[in-house]
Amino acid sequence: MTTQTAATSRPLAAASRALPATSIFGLQWGDEGKGKAVDLLAREHDAIVRYNGGANAGHSVVVAGTRYSLHLIPSGILYAGKKAVIGNGVVLDPETLLKELDDLAARGVDTSGLVVSSRAHVVMPYHKAEDAFREERLSQEAKTGAGTTVAQLGTTRRGIGPAYADKVQRGSAVRVGDLLRQDVLKERVRLACELKRSMAGAATAEAFDADAVIARATAAGERLKPMVADTTYLLHGMMRSGKRVLFEGANGTLLDVDHGTYPFVTSSNPGVAGIAAGTGVPTQMVGRVLGVMKAYSTRVGTGPMPTELHDATAHRIRERGREYGTTTGRPRRVGWLDLVAVRYAAMINGTTGLVVTLLDVLSGLSELKVCVAYRVNGEETDHFVPDSMDLAKAEPVYKTLPGFAEEIGGVKNLGDLPGAARKYLDFIEEFVGVPAELVSVGPDREQTIFR
Ligand code: IMP
Repeated sequence: MTTQTAATSRPLAAASRALPATSIFGLQWGDEGKGKAVDLLAREHDAIVRYNGGANAGHSVVVAGTRYSLHLIPSGILYAGKKAVIGNGVVLDPETLLKELDDLAARGVDTSGLVVSSRAHVVMPYHKAEDAFREERLSQEAKTGAGTTVAQLGTTRRGIGPAYADKVQRGSAVRVGDLLRQDVLKERVRLACELKRSMAGAATAEAFDADAVIARATAAGERLKPMVADTTYLLHGMMRSGKRVLFEGANGTLLDVDHGTYPFVTSSNPGVAGIAAGTGVPTQMVGRVLGVMKAYSTRVGTGPMPTELHDATAHRIRERGREYGTTTGRPRRVGWLDLVAVRYAAMINGTTGLVVTLLDVLSGLSELKVCVAYRVNGEETDHFVPDSMDLAKAEPVYKTLPGFAEEIGGVKNLGDLPGAARKYLDFIEEFVGVPAELVSVGPDREQTIFR
């Protein structure tokens, strides 16, 4: 058995909280409950910043009994007087952003704190059409059996991959600042439409009609104009004047394009690695690195998931945990907690604290299994295997812990948790090597145990 060495982050837990920035990100495949963690910590910060992904994310926050589902706008917008910043690393769908702004305004939320990087890349109608087209094509390949190594990725079809691809291709990419420069916008969109039109079926032709795209983008740009700024200088200026900044990672570390279960990943770096590239703020300024993890595992879309369950336990967890996608409504795949994966994600992010969510969902199960190693080709390892082909072969090796019958939604202190729930948490902390700072036992702000 290969043993994980130097993987734990315990020494980092002492990192100074005096540093001006905090990071909150997911340690699994997204949907870890980051929205609530961000909401709880937003109070102590002056700016809440998105740095990766786009409208593929879905953060739900319940404030004063009202549920808000945000895809692009950082949830800090719900606090008057805070800056909600969309950094350059985000791929921004302007029409989705404007719709979110209108919805918030209609519910009486002051949205004047929103600032958008002029260097964030724009998701255009043709990116969404291309996302759908590619997914259809990949699914045909899988159906005919022609492709043995390709499969539908199960994307959110929000145009994320194609927009990031154009960013890296450069020639025909459009950034938010270009929405306000007609000459650049026209040139880029015409080129993009020409390059992509061969893909357009009748149903999507409008997405590739350059004049129509330019008109929509121009209209969105006019409305966005007052919010557009250089967010890098804004954030550095804020931190220099003693303000605190909270980075809100979208998606999850196991969906990281470099470190996740490639190719079944998103197109950005959802963990701490994304902050510097996606905002211009170096990670040395981030003192508190909080990794959010569910007390079990979920995954949306395709790709290997060693601890996936298809039985009554999965059904129970899905229903109790309301495990249906915020962005797509798809039922999430559910499984036992994969601690091999979580420890890997904690390691590559330099995690100083854990936020364990949805612990209450597990009550009523007679036993709780946690994956502590994989068996791959007959060999046992406690190293994560991010390559999808290899991970697909990994069989989980479980440790079985006692379950707890009591409902724990009202528990406020660790000491008041049932013994088995406490043991479950202790086991997680010990295995991952990072202390739990927050434990969430229900959707409301009050249903949180603080360390
Ligand atoms: P894309 O980000 O839309 O390209 O989708 C790529 C993969 O990441 C798919 O499996 C999606 O289901 C998954 N994904 C993207 N964003 C999230 C998220 O916020 N939560 C959970 N899964 C996500």
